[in-house]
Amino acid sequence: MNIKRRGFIGLSAAGIAAVTLAACGDDTATTPGSTTGTDGSAEPGTAAGKKVGVAMPTQTSERWIADGEAVKSQLTDAGFEVDLQFANDDIPTQSQQVDQMITKGVNVLIIAAIDGTALAPQLDAAAAAGIKVISYDRLIRDSENVDFYVTFDNFKVGVAQAESLVSGLETKGAGPHNVELFAGSLDDNNAFFFFNGAMSILQPKIDAGDIVVKSGQTTIEQAAILRWQQETAQRRMDDLMTAHYGSDKVHGVLSPYDGISRGIITSLQNAGYKLEDFPIVTGQDAEIGSVKLIVEGLQFSTIFKDTRDLAAEAVRVATDLLEGKEPEANDTETYDNGKKVVPSYLLDVITVTKENVTEALIDTEYWTQEQVDAGVA
Ligand code: GAL
Repeated sequence: MNIKRRGFIGLSAAGIAAVTLAACGDDTATTPGSTTGTDGSAEPGTAAGKKVGVAMPTQTSERWIADGEAVKSQLTDAGFEVDLQFANDDIPTQSQQVDQMITKGVNVLIIAAIDGTALAPQLDAAAAAGIKVISYDRLIRDSENVDFYVTFDNFKVGVAQAESLVSGLETKGAGPHNVELFAGSLDDNNAFFFFNGAMSILQPKIDAGDIVVKSGQTTIEQAAILRWQQETAQRRMDDLMTAHYGSDKVHGVLSPYDGISRGIITSLQNAGYKLEDFPIVTGQDAEIGSVKLIVEGLQFSTIFKDTRDLAAEAVRVATDLLEGKEPEANDTETYDNGKKVVPSYLLDVITVTKENVTEALIDTEYWTQEQVDAGVA
């Protein structure tokens, strides 16, 4: 299944620009209705004549480009027609794209929301039209009409980030260690899971005085970065450095996502930190630019979430829902969206440091060695 993705990540810069330009266009792939049998042969089945609308948040993050491409190629392989749209992180654009998918008569919607609370009207319309809705990676909140949630174990992501931060700090000698905390976008339900997971490890150490947050900014509201933006993170880190680290050193930074980590790392470099003495910075998504920074020793870790596996889950759930089957869930308690507990399937994550880049990312063909060396897809 990774073959398609590999083809995609081999796109030239010009190719990526072309994809970006087509971002708001109609990206419908039409294939004859068929499913692929276990022997690889095409056979008529659930997918015949069925359309799936796939709404992704943005193409400014490589992670979502990979998700969009993996979902589209796997659905197409299974015989579905696919309408894939990216919304440039703009909430009205995403609402409009979902409206259009409903008007066009899709049978299933797979949505990674920009603002998890903004799509309730669209989901009402989808339910009225008998369209099944799968929340993809991020939970859609405040709506009864979410049929299923496919994601990774988001609390565990936060735990893994904090654990790697702590193990990195141990390499810096005896504490107490100065640490600053970053969180994701407050309109993304995941941000709370990541932060709460991380704080389940860090709070006891803060209470014990082993970790010191000199800024005192320890709430998610204080640590949040709107839309997970790299530039916003860089600015916040600049401000923290100016206000609190005139003479003291910062030893580590909890970062929930690679884009945020890159902003933090740039700020730290501008503040004069060198490789020999670089603070421990965490991350998430194994974005290629960050994998290079890990190999170089500037970023300590990332959390790898294999987007190919998440796409495969989304295809499985779409197929089950269309067949009137209840998709297998492995969590029916955690994800309360404010209106109901959404049955969920959570995938596992892998912590990646310099030590296991090859095993986790290259041997699995997520990235090639050349891509890691170049730091670009
Ligand atoms: C989250 C997602 C993370 C990261 C972040 C920024 O919802 O779970 O993996 O991609 O958005 O895009």
